[in-house]
Amino acid sequence: MALDPARERLIRRLPKVELHLHIEGTLEPEMMFSLAAKHGVTLPYRSVEEVRAAYNFHDLQSFLDLYYAGCDVLRDRRDFYALAMAYFTRAHADNVVHAELFFDPQTHTARGIAMETIIGGLRDAMADARTRYDISSELILCFLRHLSEEAAFETLEQALPFKDQFIAVGLDSGERGNPPSKFERVFKHAKEIGLRTVAHAGEEGPAAYIREALDLLFVERIDHGVRCDEEPALVDELVKKQIALTVCPLSNLKLCVVKDLRDHNFAKLLRKGVAVTINSDDPAYFGGYIGENFRQTAAALDLTPAEIITVAENAVHASFMSSAQKLSLTSAIQLEGQRA
Ligand code: HPA
Ligand code: ZN
Repeated sequence: MALDPARERLIRRLPKVELHLHIEGTLEPEMMFSLAAKHGVTLPYRSVEEVRAAYNFHDLQSFLDLYYAGCDVLRDRRDFYALAMAYFTRAHADNVVHAELFFDPQTHTARGIAMETIIGGLRDAMADARTRYDISSELILCFLRHLSEEAAFETLEQALPFKDQFIAVGLDSGERGNPPSKFERVFKHAKEIGLRTVAHAGEEGPAAYIREALDLLFVERIDHGVRCDEEPALVDELVKKQIALTVCPLSNLKLCVVKDLRDHNFAKLLRKGVAVTINSDDPAYFGGYIGENFRQTAAALDLTPAEIITVAENAVHASFMSSAQKLSLTSAIQLEGQRA
C-alpha cells in the first residue's frame, strides 16, 4: 500500500526521537569493507552486494550471528566515531532530533578493545552530532543476555570510570532461555548507582519475560514488547502505567516475528492506548532507518495523521530527555500536526 503525499510529508517533517537503535547495527556493508581494509581483516564476502545478499534471516539468532561477526572490523576509537557519525548523518536526514543509542561493550571487550576506546569514540561523535546537526543523544550500555550474570557484573565494573557518560543499562541478544530474572541482581546494582534501566523483552520471548522485566528489573520502558498481547492483563497494565514499547516494525518483519507488516499488532496496541513508538533497531541489516519504519508502518496499518503524531509524542514522553526538552519538542510536534 502506497503512502499518500500528506502523510509522507507529515512523516518527513516530524521531529523524531529514536529510542531503540543498536549502534553496531548501523554498520553498513560499505563501511564494513573499508574498515576491514584498514585493519587487514579478511571478510567472508567478496563484495558489498554479497554481504547484502547474506541478510536473509529466519529468526533473531540467525541475525545475531552475522551482526556479531560484522563487529570485528570495529577496532579503534576512530572506527567507533565513524560508525556513530554515519548514523547521526543518516538520522539527521530523517529529522531525528534526539537518539538514545544502545551499545554492546562485551562484543568488543571480548576482542581486547578497551571500554575507553568504545565509549570515547561514540562520545566524540555524539558531541559532533550536537554541534553539526543539533541532535542530542544518550548512551545505553547493554548486557548480552546469552552471557552470564557474572560477565554482566564485570562489564558494569569496567564501565564505572565512565559512569557519567551513559544514562542507562539495557539487555539484548538471544532472548529465548535467557529471562530477565537472570540479571535481577545486576540491574538492582545499576539502579543503586544511579543508572536508569530498559530491557529487550517479548520480541521472541514470551509475555512472561515482559512481566519479569517490569517486576524484577523495574525497567522504565520495554524494547520490542510485541508479544504483550498474549496476556491481556499485561496490555491493560502497560496502558495504565503508560510503560512505552520501543517497537521496530522492519526488524520484526526481517526476523520473522511477523510474516507481513499488515499482520503487525502495532496499530491494535496503539488504538488500545499502549504507548508504542517506532524505531529502527539495526537499520543496516533490516532495510530501513526510522523514516522508512514510519512510512512502511503507516502505509501497512493505515495509521491516521493523528496516530502518527501520537506515536512521535510517545517517544518524547518515553525518552530520558529533561522535562524542558520534552515540553519544547512536544510543542514542535504539535505544530507540525497543525500544518499537516
Ligand atoms: N534483539 C536482541 N538483541 C539485539 C537486537 C534485537 O533486536 N539487535 C541487536 N541486538
Ligand atoms: Zn534491539
